Amino acid sequence: MNQRLFFGCILFLPSVCWATSCGYSSCNMGNKDHLNVHLVPHTHDDVGWLKTVDQYYYGANNSIAIAGVQYILDTVVPHLMADSTKRFIYVEMAFFYRWWNQQSEQMKSDVKMLVEEGRLEFILGGWCMNDEASTHYNAIIDQMSLGMTFLNETFGSCGRPRVAWQIDPFGHSREQASLFAQMGFDGLFFGRLDYQDKALREKEVRMEEIWRGSETLTSPQADLFTGINENGYGPPKGFCFDELCGDSPIMDDPNLEEYNVDDKVNFFADAARHQAKHFKTNHIMMTMGSDFQYSNAHTWYKNLDKLIKYVNAANKNITVFYSTPSCYLYALNEVNEDWTIKTDDFFPYADIPHGFWTGYFTSRPALKGYVRESNNLLQVCKQLEVLAGPNKIKSSSATLREAMGVTQHHDAVSGTSKQHVANDYAKRLYKGRSACHQVVSEVITGESNNLHVCDYLNITFCNYTQQMNEFVVIAYNPLARSVEKYLRIPVDSVMKNSMFDVTEVDSGKSVTNQLVPVSDATKSVRRTRGNADSELVFLADLPPFGYKEYKVSKQPVLKKFSKQSSVSKTGKDDITIANAYYKVQFDGSTGLMKTIVNTANSIEMNVSQNLYWYNASTGNNASNQPSGAYVFRPNSSHTFPCADGIVETHVLQGNNPLVQEVYQKFSDWAWQVVRLYNNKKYIEVEWTIGPIPIKDGLGKEVISRFETPLATAGYFYTDANGREVLERKRDYRPTWTLNQTEPVAGNYYPVNSRIYIKDSKFQLTVLNDRSQGGASLSDGSLELMLHRRLLVDDKRGVGEPLNETGQFGDGLIVRGKQLILLDTIQASGAQQRLLAEEMYMDTFVAFRNVSTASNGLPPGSALSAPLPENVHLLTLETTSSGQILIRLEHQFALNDDAQLSKPVTVSLKGLIKGFEPVSVEELVLSGNALKSQVTRLQWKSKTRPKRDAERQMHFEKHYDATNGFGDVLYDQFDVTLQPMQIRTFLMR
Ligand SMILES: *[C@@H]1O[C@H](CO)[C@@H](O)[C@H](O)[C@H]1NC(C)=O
Ligand SMILES: *[C@@H]1O[C@H](CO)[C@@H](O)[C@H](O)[C@H]1NC(C)=O
Ligand SMILES: [Zn+2]
Repeated sequence: MNQRLFFGCILFLPSVCWATSCGYSSCNMGNKDHLNVHLVPHTHDDVGWLKTVDQYYYGANNSIAIAGVQYILDTVVPHLMADSTKRFIYVEMAFFYRWWNQQSEQMKSDVKMLVEEGRLEFILGGWCMNDEASTHYNAIIDQMSLGMTFLNETFGSCGRPRVAWQIDPFGHSREQASLFAQMGFDGLFFGRLDYQDKALREKEVRMEEIWRGSETLTSPQADLFTGINENGYGPPKGFCFDELCGDSPIMDDPNLEEYNVDDKVNFFADAARHQAKHFKTNHIMMTMGSDFQYSNAHTWYKNLDKLIKYVNAANKNITVFYSTPSCYLYALNEVNEDWTIKTDDFFPYADIPHGFWTGYFTSRPALKGYVRESNNLLQVCKQLEVLAGPNKIKSSSATLREAMGVTQHHDAVSGTSKQHVANDYAKRLYKGRSACHQVVSEVITGESNNLHVCDYLNITFCNYTQQMNEFVVIAYNPLARSVEKYLRIPVDSVMKNSMFDVTEVDSGKSVTNQLVPVSDATKSVRRTRGNADSELVFLADLPPFGYKEYKVSKQPVLKKFSKQSSVSKTGKDDITIANAYYKVQFDGSTGLMKTIVNTANSIEMNVSQNLYWYNASTGNNASNQPSGAYVFRPNSSHTFPCADGIVETHVLQGNNPLVQEVYQKFSDWAWQVVRLYNNKKYIEVEWTIGPIPIKDGLGKEVISRFETPLATAGYFYTDANGREVLERKRDYRPTWTLNQTEPVAGNYYPVNSRIYIKDSKFQLTVLNDRSQGGASLSDGSLELMLHRRLLVDDKRGVGEPLNETGQFGDGLIVRGKQLILLDTIQASGAQQRLLAEEMYMDTFVAFRNVSTASNGLPPGSALSAPLPENVHLLTLETTSSGQILIRLEHQFALNDDAQLSKPVTVSLKGLIKGFEPVSVEELVLSGNALKSQVTRLQWKSKTRPKRDAERQMHFEKHYDATNGFGDVLYDQFDVTLQPMQIRTFLMR
């Protein structure tokens, strides 16, 4: 009742009754002569891990883990309402959004007040706290935008998070820092880094630095203040006051035998002084909370109240108070301090010797592939929603947007959840995809169920195309430049003794096609799912940002065609396939790849490739650490070939106009197809792995390894989240002297889209279709981990061995693709950028009846003109207010290509047919605020390298540096993009 009276006016005129004081102005800055301890009450709410996201929200399935997010918010809010000094931060919008939608108007109004007074503060504000090793930048930006836009719509500018909070992800990516900086964040805090790195930083008082997130973007666009939490994200020892914890409460009746105030105060002061030794200023932050804590907020707050009271009263030159990470950051910013600069990243992460968390780079490869492919569909779906025009369609991308938000979580796409939770993630994506299939159908045909979409084209399974005598293929290209794509459609040919006629619907032009018999590998993967005997292959020449239709009709063989012949060769002779650019040679005696010739550039190199497995450790004398969902730990560096002896090889060649394929069978559970498509400047390798056998009792981690004579001197290169590339060196870390305990696992890095090795002239590049772990363990060698099946848990909490049994119960089979390039270093930069873009924004294929009338978007390009090759149309989506959000990206880094790495200007005017922007406003990368209204904190840094000083001058000359973004708007609608720059606009 008291509470109600005190805030009584909020019932009538909320905005009048409290002054908005969110942001830095609400911060308690402590006592400048004391050691200031910022207590940050917080909860870490995994968006699925041991339980599904729904179970966590409601507190169901508590026998697995006691956790119920709804109760956390329910019990925290009254405590904040009752005492204006208390603070709480909330992080994951996937949970907060649900809770918010279930609250009364009164509760919403209370919460708004708390937010506007800075008492409840949103930190990070993404849909989830995303993984950093196996996520793609496109999906990171989307998931952050989804949460942060919700916050802006609900709370306005007071809801805008200023601090990024990645307290649990298992290693940290430089690209993530760059993206956060571009989203307008002032700082980042996290908890996990290599134990050797942490020890050195503590000693050198370097727990906080400026992280330079980009080699290409001019400073300070991608600079981010970054702090490491002393205790991960938990409280100091002895001060965990949650119901879930065992530490004693503060017992403050002096008459009691167990009176402990003096001890608690002394322990706390010791902990604070000890922590302060690792940090530069007289401010430190303590994270008072942990996983799913505060579901009874009272136990925490009651004891923290006492702690604050008694420590402050003890006169120990320590001031303790409720705070938030942003207030702590602000206090650091106020101290006149120079900060050192970091330019590398925080991978790989080892928490103990022999405990490298490099297994999750590959764990659950099928889920990782499904997430990547779903990102592709989500972009298609959002683009088509825009092209449909406002309020024209009933179906929506919302379900897939949220499902993608959930699956970027650091226990989702990372592959570190329990199996039932991984199944739940896949189901969410499936539902979102189904809704998006309806969007595509509605926009293109006017009806939501007119199109047939086949999810299993990768295993040549599509009942519709197999059964129909004629049908129309719709091929939608989401890229803003034209592409030529080979499409592969499941059909029956041999059985029906038929051939196919393919014509462009628009022009009536006939299109060459080829029938490729279904391989044994595909038959073995497919099992009961379909029995099409061939794939119909043809080249689709697609318009930029639009679609084309092809009519396919079955023809009796004798009438029109003579059956195409394809020669299958097996045996001991060498096999060679070749197109206009490449020649690949296989050794007849082993069945393995042995030479690649780039005929266009006259490069001939002995390149061998093989599939191997590491025997997963279950613990040994050096350490009892097993290999598991998180940790990779082979029991030795020895690799076992997947093939017992010779690899069974045969080739599809001969009178084949479009594609040549070499089939390799390594064993019953390891297969490859090596392909050369006509006029394609890459070698495609399709791998199929599984069920990985475990009857011998050995966990196995399967890799693909390439070996070359390239003199690489220990160096190799991996991308960060599909954007910039980092240089790696074997058994080396750029900022400390590594004591290497794991010669294999300790050299693995995340590979999200590409890995390469090079010497002074040539480069071998492998592009992948999902995130994987990769390494170069000896000079000239390069490997990617494809699949893992393990028999014991690795003791990091998930409590299950990573043993995916799959839908048929005998072990999951996974199929994926790599594109291989061998070229000069100069030529490789542009090729890898453009091909990686084609892979992750692949053509979307659907089918319709020949007789279905198309009442929707007409075929052809929706653009007036294609965008330049270096400009990527990263996002086109509708906002909740019916406007259009567009992101344009310069997808080249500084030294990728002599021409394409230059700045480029495009106009938003007349870009999309039928959409004339009336006004355009630039937003921060996360789309939740106008760029002009976001000012980032400025930091002083020392030891700025010379190169940076030069760039800084360039920067100051060309850009307005005041908001730390640096943009020139020549004209309202002209957009200039610097290399690697992404710009976000709201178009009316
Ligand atoms: C508190 O600070 C003052 C002056 O800085 C110093 O003389 C005194 O010893 C300090 N006391 C403690 C308990 O650290
Ligand atoms: C932020 O939300 C406010 C309403 O709360 C809205 O007027 C504004 O347009 C939003 N900004 C962006 C960039 O969406
Ligand atoms: Zn977590």
